[in-house]
Amino acid sequence: MDLSTTYLGLKLSHPFIVGASPLSATLDGVRRLEDGGAAAVVLPSLFEEQITLAETRHIHHMDPQNADFTAPLASYPAADQFSLTPDGYLEHVRHAKEAVRVPIIASLNGMTTEAWVSFAGRIQDAGADALELNIYQVTTDVTQSSIEIEANIRNVVVELKRALAIPIAVKLSPFFTAFGHVAHWLDQARADGLVIFNRFYQPDIDIHALTLAPQVELSTGAELLLRLRWLAILRRHVRCSLAATGGVATPVDGIKAILAGADAVQMVSAILRHGPGYFRVVHEGLSQWMDANAIARVDDLRGRVSLAAAADGSIFERGSYLRTLQSWYHDHPLASHTGTSP
Ligand SMILES: Cc1cc2nc3c(=O)[nH]c(=O)nc-3n(C[C@H](O)[C@H](O)[C@H](O)COP(=O)(O)O)c2cc1C
Repeated sequence: MDLSTTYLGLKLSHPFIVGASPLSATLDGVRRLEDGGAAAVVLPSLFEEQITLAETRHIHHMDPQNADFTAPLASYPAADQFSLTPDGYLEHVRHAKEAVRVPIIASLNGMTTEAWVSFAGRIQDAGADALELNIYQVTTDVTQSSIEIEANIRNVVVELKRALAIPIAVKLSPFFTAFGHVAHWLDQARADGLVIFNRFYQPDIDIHALTLAPQVELSTGAELLLRLRWLAILRRHVRCSLAATGGVATPVDGIKAILAGADAVQMVSAILRHGPGYFRVVHEGLSQWMDANAIARVDDLRGRVSLAAAADGSIFERGSYLRTLQSWYHDHPLASHTGTSP
């Protein structure tokens, strides 16, 4: 049985890899992930703001020491609250590369084309096999159009491609008017992969303190369906690799992501819950399922349940929507909705 896959041009022994998270923030963590069976490791993100602060003492052109900027920068953590400094990050990449055989994918998290982009070259020099670029942006400027936002993202990718020889993946949110077009555009800008989707950490409101209450919650399998839909739509339209992230909780979820079109499947919450050894459970689950379905190679499985066969994906999607709503009537005949208690 051949579980191997190619992701960002990297040959992986199977599709399951760990996503950017504290799981890979230490060398011991990276080793445990490899021992547990992860096929590649994405390191936690280094943030644009950390880099510009270290290199230019500014965050988005604002000096945090200047009282005028205290208010706009109030939500930022202090520099010493990040687990790794920029130099520490480079060291971590170097040591991780020496410690394990699986590919090491560094992660940069930013949203502009400012000086931090050149730092990507130092990550490459430190030995990273690839770079994942996390574009996390909530645009609150109501005068900024979708075209401007998308062009900005594309420019970051173009700049990085110009600066780097290693492959880059772009991790995106689903919140675009025309996500398919964004994916297509980035593919054309020679992104080597798309990672779908970023989760948005939406702060709650503390009604006692009358403040925002930020929290990180682990995902559930309920988040997977949005990923499956877009993997299935994009599979035949992009040349680049596709990775799923978000809601892969079980081996069955992983199989679904590959059926929809994923080349690699990232996992974080499930590994935080069950430990790195869960990677072995997941790829053994895939192997058993392939055996039971007489499928010899992951390559033969990928995208089997994508929209590649649909003549017009939009019409197919619309038809599925109508059929889904109508299934309620089939399962719950109108006569049972009298509105009165028995
Ligand atoms: C505690 C925690 C820290 C994370 N840190 C990062 C990060 O540094 N960079 C990043 O791109 N994603 C980060 N993520 C997001 C994960 O990589 C992943 O996309 C998300 O958790 C969805 O996958 P899951 O459902 O398998 O957890 C983090 C997630 C968690 C739970």
